Amino acid sequence: MSTPSTVILGTGSYAPDRILTNAELSKTVDTSDEWIRTRSGIRERRIAAAGEKTSDMGVQAARRALEDARLTAADIDLVIVATFTPDLPMPSTACIIQQKLGLPTTAACFDLCAACTGFVYALDTACAMIASGRYRHALVIGAEKLSSIVDWKDRTTCVLFGDGAGAVVIGPSPDAGRGLLGTRLGTLGDTVDLLCIPGGGSNAPATPASIAAGDHFLKMKGKEVFKLAVRAMDEAARDILEQHHLRADQISLVIPHQANLRIIEAISQYLELPMDRFFVNVDRYGNTSAASIPLALDEARRSGRIKAGDLNLLVAFGAGLTYGSALIRW
Ligand code: UT7
Repeated sequence: MSTPSTVILGTGSYAPDRILTNAELSKTVDTSDEWIRTRSGIRERRIAAAGEKTSDMGVQAARRALEDARLTAADIDLVIVATFTPDLPMPSTACIIQQKLGLPTTAACFDLCAACTGFVYALDTACAMIASGRYRHALVIGAEKLSSIVDWKDRTTCVLFGDGAGAVVIGPSPDAGRGLLGTRLGTLGDTVDLLCIPGGGSNAPATPASIAAGDHFLKMKGKEVFKLAVRAMDEAARDILEQHHLRADQISLVIPHQANLRIIEAISQYLELPMDRFFVNVDRYGNTSAASIPLALDEARRSGRIKAGDLNLLVAFGAGLTYGSALIRW
């Protein structure tokens, strides 16, 4: 459990203007609005403009989070970007964002890859670094350009994903009862092949043949991932509630990873917590991976669904398979 001494000071998010509807997708792959809606709950997703990079989306979300926190670039000494679609394999997108936001050169900047659980991992990491007393204000960003790694000819995956970014600013809390109360992270590393990008890494550097075979696109065994996702998210949620001696009905709002409405409904049933205690925007954005929770968190706050004193549960899973939960008292 992390020290309860860090708090979210501001949130921000960004989604590209371009909306890609299910109806449009059904003109390019063998699918239908009905199939996508009933199997996933997704109606539309956002797609980054040509030339719009993961860092550009992250910068927009970060600017809004800074403004919300009433802080400036000069106040930030730590940036963690959760992403698996960085602008470049290296250097990290966090370095590019540092330059674009004009952050101090004394800021530590790095990316963290835990796929769709990335934001929860990054939040935990940043909070631990701030709790250490060696950093004061962190920008934790989840940003993804999934349109760049999706095979637009593969109907089993391309209908599910979208682009976007979310960010939070965190800092030390004067009140030990507020902020990040704790996290529960985990990994099922024997399931790497269920959800991965097989080509382009050091194991299989890109070649003309690997590119022709589409090895640089995301591959997923959806049904298997679905079952593990429900199990892992349920476990992560139950464990953290138990650790903190809380009942599910004490959570005012759950912000789950937005991958599939049916997964969220299953968690709602397992926790015996009604769906009106779950924030859902998967219908409008699809799965934006590491961006999904901070984007949802920001929308929930700005739409008045989070108030001072509320207790929120974040819960996610993703490739790895990684999974995790976090408890936040506002
Ligand atoms: O953040 C982590 C990311 N991963 C996930 O969240 C994925 C978790 N998994 C899922 O969300 C679901 O498994 C999916 C939405 C991917 C698929 O739903 P499903 O109910 O598990 O469907 P399925 O894979 O069993 O496919 C059912 C049928 C198949 O046809 P047959 O074999 O029954 O003839 C598929 O070929 O639907 C077919 N199908 C489609 N049909 C129309 C698969 N994709 C599509 C499509 N449009 N886009």
